[in-house]
Amino acid sequence: MADTPLLQLEEITKNFGAIQALRGISFSIGRGEVVALLGDNGAGKSTLVKIISGGLEQSSGRILFEGVERKFASPAEAKAAGIETVYQDLSLCTNVDVVANFFMGREIVKKWFGIPILQEAEMEAAVAKTMANAGTRIPSLRTNVEHLSGGQRQAIELNRFVHWGGKLVLLDEPFAALGVEQTRRGLEMVKRIAAQGIGVVIITHIMAQAFQVADRIVVIRHGVVAGDVKRTATSPDEVVPMITGEALQGQAQQA
Ligand SMILES: Nc1ncnc2c1ncn2[C@@H]1O[C@H](COP(=O)(O)OP(=O)(O)OP(=O)(O)O)[C@@H](O)[C@H]1O
Ligand SMILES: [Mg+2]
Repeated sequence: MADTPLLQLEEITKNFGAIQALRGISFSIGRGEVVALLGDNGAGKSTLVKIISGGLEQSSGRILFEGVERKFASPAEAKAAGIETVYQDLSLCTNVDVVANFFMGREIVKKWFGIPILQEAEMEAAVAKTMANAGTRIPSLRTNVEHLSGGQRQAIELNRFVHWGGKLVLLDEPFAALGVEQTRRGLEMVKRIAAQGIGVVIITHIMAQAFQVADRIVVIRHGVVAGDVKRTATSPDEVVPMITGEALQGQAQQA
């Protein structure tokens, strides 16, 4: 069903003891859509992303992925379904090269007189192709990851996710530690992987980034959705009050 959203959240709640971190979150994400998730500190953004990616279990509410209700008991289960949180470098092995990181545990091997032989050229070509589709340039795919920058490592993570059939990627403040140029490239890459049909949720505190990359902006405030708007139909002036809650006060003053 092409018109079924990739992911649908229905009335997701999460309590940590007496704290109600999420109080009924509902929105959906389409294939190839970039959703910027905005909200003040403690609004519930990271909690929501962890619930989607199997790191936390919701207290109530339903998650439908490709139209089917799913409960992911672990990040590994979510990953197997094609949902992953991409961190800057946490899951890369720094002492091997880019190609080895892509194929870790899934190497292409052919047997020659019963002896398994790694198909290095084939693997490198596959990595190069995925990277080219995302517009990622790494000086050499044979460089050990320890010699690459934070932005390059992030690009490798994202490309690896795409390569293995990822469908929904969650980015929790992915560019917080990056410089201006690396951030620009990161945003470009997000657009290019979305253009390949992948859904993207990106948490950012920088309004300009949200407006640069997102198709839709969802604002979370005190654990509820305070706004869900198409980027082309809104502006930072409209979104800021959704984040701070000042819109309500402003309206009250006008009344
Ligand atoms: N493991 C936990 N145990 C108890 N409370 C938690 C836990 N994780 C999050 N919270 C609380 O849930 C609320 C939402 O936190 P969350 O980390 O989702 O916010 P956030 O929107 O990601 O904020 P930030 O922008 O600062 O990263 C906060 O009040 C936080 O203190
Ligand atoms: Mg957070």
